[in-house]
Amino acid sequence: MRESDYLDCLGDHELLIQSPGRINLIGEHTDYNKGYCLPAAIRQSLFLGISEAPAMKFRALDTGDDWGYGNQQRPHWMVYLQGVIDFLAAQGIKVPPFEMEFGGTLPMGAGLSSSSSLTCGFIFGINQLMCLDLPTETLTAWAVQAERASGLMGGMMDQISIFNGRKKEALLIDCSDWSFKYYPVDIPGFSWLIADTGVKHKLVDSDYNNRSLACTGILRTMQLNGFAGASISELPIHELSQWESHLSEEDFPLLSYVLEENKRVLTFAENLTAHQVNELGQLLLEGHAGLRDQYRVSCAELDFMVEFAEQFEGVMGARMMGGGFGGSTLHLLKEDAKQDYQHAISKAYFKKFDKEAKIFEAELEDGVRRIH
Ligand code: GLA
Repeated sequence: MRESDYLDCLGDHELLIQSPGRINLIGEHTDYNKGYCLPAAIRQSLFLGISEAPAMKFRALDTGDDWGYGNQQRPHWMVYLQGVIDFLAAQGIKVPPFEMEFGGTLPMGAGLSSSSSLTCGFIFGINQLMCLDLPTETLTAWAVQAERASGLMGGMMDQISIFNGRKKEALLIDCSDWSFKYYPVDIPGFSWLIADTGVKHKLVDSDYNNRSLACTGILRTMQLNGFAGASISELPIHELSQWESHLSEEDFPLLSYVLEENKRVLTFAENLTAHQVNELGQLLLEGHAGLRDQYRVSCAELDFMVEFAEQFEGVMGARMMGGGFGGSTLHLLKEDAKQDYQHAISKAYFKKFDKEAKIFEAELEDGVRRIH
């Protein structure tokens, strides 16, 4: 279904909400380490139609599965919706019964934050439906908490960008205090492409939480040995080598990756403003190498796409995006190389993995909004 089909299907509901997905230009696995990241909301979105009803009912238009209509098996996405309802109940807010149908152009499990898009859209919708008047900062913080019910020890990058996204702009987030600044992303003559490997990643079943736990362990070891910071991101990069002997062979590369990635984010933002596309491409490639070799969250399909990008004329750089273990890659390339590149990478990917890669342009758009 296309965007307009969702709008038609859901048009009769009292409330119609558009909740986008997100990309991340750079700064991966830094958010829960209180570092920096540079995400943006995208055009691909979920649409949520909500109306008051005698009993709670939920339906996913794309898969046809539902909850509250008599179905015996609870759909997996209910964990996010129930997470919001339970979290609000714990705050003393009892959500009245209503019906919600949703679906959209945002692919699930593609590293574009479909679960946060659903959670954020839902809490935003309840805020409207119940006229709660909660400010965006509160909705963001609550969406982060509610999503933890799924078991993922995620950060706040997805929710901040989904709530605060702006057309053609990315947000440089300082995850130590959740503050952010907008950076224009449009570079004349260049495009950003997203290539979905089709390797579905369900982060909660991956090593994502183990990386997050390992970083907490690293911080504890450092603190026990005299480090006064409250997060590993506070360690000045020139002091990195002092900690090598305190950490295991697996843990030290995690620490060095996080510090280097934080630095890359700040350099990237400067180069974005100055339209320094060669530097941007190089930083994307370095970020990917760090995720592959130091943080170890890549996979063969993601690596293949990035290696392909590296040797293709007109492509400045590429990297895996999001939590990893599957999902999508992000590519910066010359506008006039776009068609050839799309064709070539799809063909090569299919030949290698016998799978279709879904490729589309990253159009940066506004964050969650009410359509009516
Ligand atoms: C997932 C999480 C985010 C972030 C990224 C990795 O998308 O939801 O909070 O940690 O992985 O950068």
